[in-house]
Formats: sequence, structure tokens, C-alpha cells
Amino acid sequence: MICDNLSIKEGRLNFAGCDTLDLAKEYGTPLYAMDENKVRSNCRAYTNALSKNFGDKYLALYASKALCIKEIYRIIQDENMGIDVVSSGEIYTAVAAGFDMSKAVFHGNNKTPYDIDFAIQNKVGFIVCDNADELPLIENAAKKAGVKQNILIRVTPGIDPHTHDKINTGCVDSKFGVSVYGGAAFEVTEKALTCENVALKGFQFHVGSQLFDPTPFLQAIDVMTDFMVLIKDELGFDCEILDIGGGIGVRYVEAEPQPDIEAFIDSIAKELIGCCDRKSLSLPFVCMEPGRSIVANAGITLYTVGSVKEIPDVKNYVAIDGGMADNPRYTLYNAPYTVINAAKADKSNDYTCTVVGRCCESGDVIQRDVKMPKPVPGDILAVLTTGAYNYSMASNYNALLKPPIIMINDGKAHISVRRETFEDLTACQK
Ligand code: LLP
Repeated sequence: MICDNLSIKEGRLNFAGCDTLDLAKEYGTPLYAMDENKVRSNCRAYTNALSKNFGDKYLALYASKALCIKEIYRIIQDENMGIDVVSSGEIYTAVAAGFDMSKAVFHGNNKTPYDIDFAIQNKVGFIVCDNADELPLIENAAKKAGVKQNILIRVTPGIDPHTHDKINTGCVDSKFGVSVYGGAAFEVTEKALTCENVALKGFQFHVGSQLFDPTPFLQAIDVMTDFMVLIKDELGFDCEILDIGGGIGVRYVEAEPQPDIEAFIDSIAKELIGCCDRKSLSLPFVCMEPGRSIVANAGITLYTVGSVKEIPDVKNYVAIDGGMADNPRYTLYNAPYTVINAAKADKSNDYTCTVVGRCCESGDVIQRDVKMPKPVPGDILAVLTTGAYNYSMASNYNALLKPPIIMINDGKAHISVRRETFEDLTACQK
């Protein structure tokens, strides 16, 4: 099994100590199920490795775009982590969960004036200034509110992490941040240091997502520490905080490796400490922003098979009661997923099929060329590793209702997000 919270008992798939068929029966399908202990152990993999390398000069920030619900914010707070938020909606949800917003970092390449006011009103710890146009917005909003707002500057180090194009963010050609290359990052830093209501604390970068190799982080750290030397020499500013973003990958299928978070952080720390030593910089306070690697393998989705259609010499289609509306990742990125026939988990995978959803769209595919024991209508399929970027990217396309999320703790489940109703669908409509 691709994750240690999955097992097979009497031929049935177990997840986080629960029988998946019992979960499907009790809560209905489609159903997102989350394993609280796995979320917590993923958080601890970060906090333990960061504290081992940086003492108390670190903060792990959960990138809440991966899954933004109140219960996750409460777990993250309990694990002594901060958060990365990217919209007023994420800020609102975190505040509603009682999150200490002084440990929140606010991202986004086009924050509106409303967003900036909302962040300041809610006492967000750090706003990450993305570009030159945003700086005066932050300065003016802070002045109006009578505060001095802590900021970081989002810098694009110009590293190509060779991940999927749509989740590649650290290159020079990026809509995010100001580039070291060409001097834009220097210019914004210089301006920020003249602002009265803005306190520049340091820099942030994010190279990309679903990375299995730390090399892009190491290259970015080399570029960023060179930049920190330039800023120190030219502008007399010592970077206090360096936020190195998120991006550590997760294993979706057997063919992918299981990234070792501790080893990743050890090599990042070695590079950062080495660069700071060699370049005579004091070691900054370090932040990391993991999203996917906190929640992805803590989640699965359960579906019921509706039909099995065999087109001779072409393909076998297995249609489920969800699809691109609750998991758009294959449609968007050709993302790999493992699909298990939950009641026949010990039978041989001798049937090849394409698992499709129920939307009126040929591209509504969960996975192609899946090998599993032949399913029949009524079988429960489990799609694994769906805790990140599934619920948070779900839509109501075709007026489908978003599935509920159940949270499992030590084999006991409760509803964390209820299933949507038809009333929810029309709630905003006249
Ligand atoms: N920090 C920043 C500034 C980011 O832009 C992101 C992700 C993260 C942290 C968290 O990265 P992670 O640890 O989750 O890789 N929807 C796509 C992923 C988009 C990621 C965007 N930024 C997907 O489903 O693969």
C-alpha cells in the first residue's frame, strides 16, 4: 500500500482504522475521508526536522490552499504551526476556527485593496508583498489602520524545478513575485525600506510543487543568499526571516518514491547554513510552507460504481458517482492516482479500465488505464491520496453537490464538513 494508514482486512480496504465499506454505507458516497493522526504526524515530520536543524528559529506554515476547513486549522494550531493564506476567504475561515493570526502569512499575486484591509483588520502577522504595485497599497492600508505592518517580499529566484508547468512558480517567467534577475526584487526592497507603515522582515520564495528532489530548493537558496548579501551591502538591510515556500511531493502511485521530509529539510538546512557561513550572513529565522505533504496522504475519496461499459477493442469505462467536480486534478494536470476496488482489495488486478466521473464532459476522468479486480455496479472504489487540492478545488459543475468530509481519529469518524444540499446550491440566487 502506498501509505501506512491503508491496509487490507478480509479482502476489504481499511483506512485509518476504519473499514471503507462501512464508511461508505454510513455516510454515503462520494465521500472524502481524512485521517487526523496522519495530518498530525505529517506536521510533526516538519516541526521535528526544522527544530533539529534550526533550534527555535523556525516556523512551519501550513499552506491552507491544499485544504481550507475549520477543523484542519484547529489541528494545525494544536501542532504549533502557522498558516499560509491566499485570500480573504481563507483568512475568514482561519479566524472562524479561532486561529492565532499573528502566525499567518498572507500570499497572492493580486491582492485587492479589500483583501489587504481585511488582512490588517484581522491582524495577519505578515503580508507577502508580491510586486511593486502592491507595496503602496499595503503602506496606505497600514497608515489608514494606524499600524506598522510586517511584510516579506516575494522573490522569484529564477530556478526551474522541472515539475508540471501549471505548478511551476519559481522561474523568471512567472506571474508571482519580483525577480532577482533584472533588478525588480532589489527595487521593491529599496522602496519597502523607505515606507513608514511597513516593516520589512525578509524574503519569501516558492520554487514549485510536487517536488521529489531538494535540488531546486538548494539552487534557490544559493541565489537568495547572494541576493541577501547584495541587499545587506547596498541597502544595509539584514534579512531576519527567510520563507522558503512549500513543494515537497507526495506519493500518489507505487511507481513514485516516498519523499523523506526529514532528509529534505536536512539537506536544505545544510545548504542554508553553509551559504550563510560562506557569505558572512547571519542565519535567518526560517519558514516553510508545506501544503500537499501535510494533508494529501491523510485523505481518500470513496465513490460508488454506477456502470461498467465495455467497448470491444477500444476501452472499458467504469463510471462513478463523483468525478472532476470533486477531483479535477486528472482533468487539469493528468495527475496520477491509485484506485482500489474496496471490497475486492485482495483480488488480482486483472481488469483494465478508465475511471470516469458523471459530468457531461468527456474530459471528466479520474484515471486512465487503471488495473483492478473487475468492478460491478454498486462496488465502492477508493481513490487514494486525495486530501490535498481535491475538496479545495471542488466545484458545483453540473449543479453537483460537494461531498462531505469526515475526520477519523483513532478509528472513530465524525462529520467535519456536511454534504451540500440543494438549498446550498440556490442559496445565492434570486
Ligand atoms: N507556498 C506558496 C507560495 C505556494 O504557491 C504553494 C502552492 C505552497 C506554498 C504549497 O505548495 P505544496 O507544499 O502544496 O506543494 N493545485 C495544484 C497545486 C498548486 C500549488 C500552488 N502553490 C495541484 O493540485 O497540484
